[in-house]
Amino acid sequence: MLTIDRERALARTYDRILSAWQEFDTARDHEPPISTALQELLEEPLPEHGVDVTEAIDDAVLALNSSLAQARPRYLAYVGSSGLDIGAIGDLLAHSYDPNLALHAGAASRIEDQTLQWLGAFVGYPVAAGSFTSGGTISNITALAAARVARFPDSRVHGLAGPVAIYCSADAHYSITRAAELLGLGSSAVRAVPVDINRRLDVGLLRSLLQEDGRRGVTPLAVVGTAGTTLTGAIDPLADIADLCASHGVWFHVDGAYGLPAASVRGDLFAGLSQADSVTVDAHKWMFVPKACGVLMVRDAQVLQSAFGHETSYLPGATNPVDSTLEYSRPLRALKLWLALRVHGADDFRLTISHTIDLAQQVATQARQRGGWTVGPMGELSIAILRRDGVDNAALVRALQEDGRVFVSHARIAEETWIRPCFTNPRTTASDALSLLDVAEEIAAGMPRV
Ligand SMILES: Cc1ncc(COP(=O)(O)O)c(C=O)c1O
Repeated sequence: MLTIDRERALARTYDRILSAWQEFDTARDHEPPISTALQELLEEPLPEHGVDVTEAIDDAVLALNSSLAQARPRYLAYVGSSGLDIGAIGDLLAHSYDPNLALHAGAASRIEDQTLQWLGAFVGYPVAAGSFTSGGTISNITALAAARVARFPDSRVHGLAGPVAIYCSADAHYSITRAAELLGLGSSAVRAVPVDINRRLDVGLLRSLLQEDGRRGVTPLAVVGTAGTTLTGAIDPLADIADLCASHGVWFHVDGAYGLPAASVRGDLFAGLSQADSVTVDAHKWMFVPKACGVLMVRDAQVLQSAFGHETSYLPGATNPVDSTLEYSRPLRALKLWLALRVHGADDFRLTISHTIDLAQQVATQARQRGGWTVGPMGELSIAILRRDGVDNAALVRALQEDGRVFVSHARIAEETWIRPCFTNPRTTASDALSLLDVAEEIAAGMPRV
């Protein structure tokens, strides 16, 4: 029961994965539709009896080949992962052994700790403790839960008695609002601080809001500095925010889910990072490993314990890793990053991050040189912001997605729709990046002028 022909299953998996990786090295010229046969397969009821393992693997591969995959070099939408080969191997290994990181799992727990230290060294953060999570959303919620307990130690038992506020830029990720909702603060506790012309949180306005809330008896729980906004890649002025937090005694969280890996090559843009109480970074974004590989790091080893420590009648020992995490059962997510850093070395990561920053700059420069394009308020990371002049750019993005040669998404900034290619994939070449301009120009030429 529940056995498979392992040799045949692995041989078929090996073939299919190797073909996929080879195929990912070059762009495909369209996205295939879901075939009638696949459609029928995906509507089949619960199978009572199994099929041959190789048939099932082939069906899974057919479905995956009919799916949008971020690993493809012309997938330029969103700041997502790129399924780094060694990362996928890491997941296969981790899931084969399947240790549970909720408990002390021997060397697997040590791998998690070591990878955390490596990541801290890579981005320049003095990490004392932390965990691997299912993504930036969970890391941000975890950090803000820790901030709440740090400010109000009784809040785990009694909740919050008075009004509190969390401050972040108007361009901060929605997960901050979600955290406020889930932590029982209410979304109205989130102060969306206006951004400056470069879409960085305006520190002067943050100071005024903190003072105003102080006068009204609202307790500031945390300030979130975004180190690379999802929208444009803007990095908030972390050093100024850190100073302000220190003078007001407020928890300082840095959401670097997307952008923080760039601290390894442009540390100057992230000055102040080391003062943060907590930091989010997603290795499944700009460190290329498959989803999910979120990371939360904190400077004081005790804070997570205070927020999540508990006793149950069935767990061993006084404290377990689950005493400092929001999630209970956790896979060994760190292994894929551990392997990737060992195989490629930090320097290859730095080179690739620089390459992707360069791609965003090249697209912007080319667009300016070609004419007929407007370049928008892009940050200094790997997201370009541009509009094709004279056409409806929302319609253009939709047409590009239907066309399928380059997959891109949009950004709404100041009432306007922009095209927003994001470069987080080592497989993307300069010619892949610039093909966006060619394809967009070709499609736009057939669109009505506005
Ligand atoms: C800045 C930032 N924070 C948080 C998140 C949420 O991360 P996840 O999708 O891994 O939950 C994102 C996702 O794009 C992000 O860009």
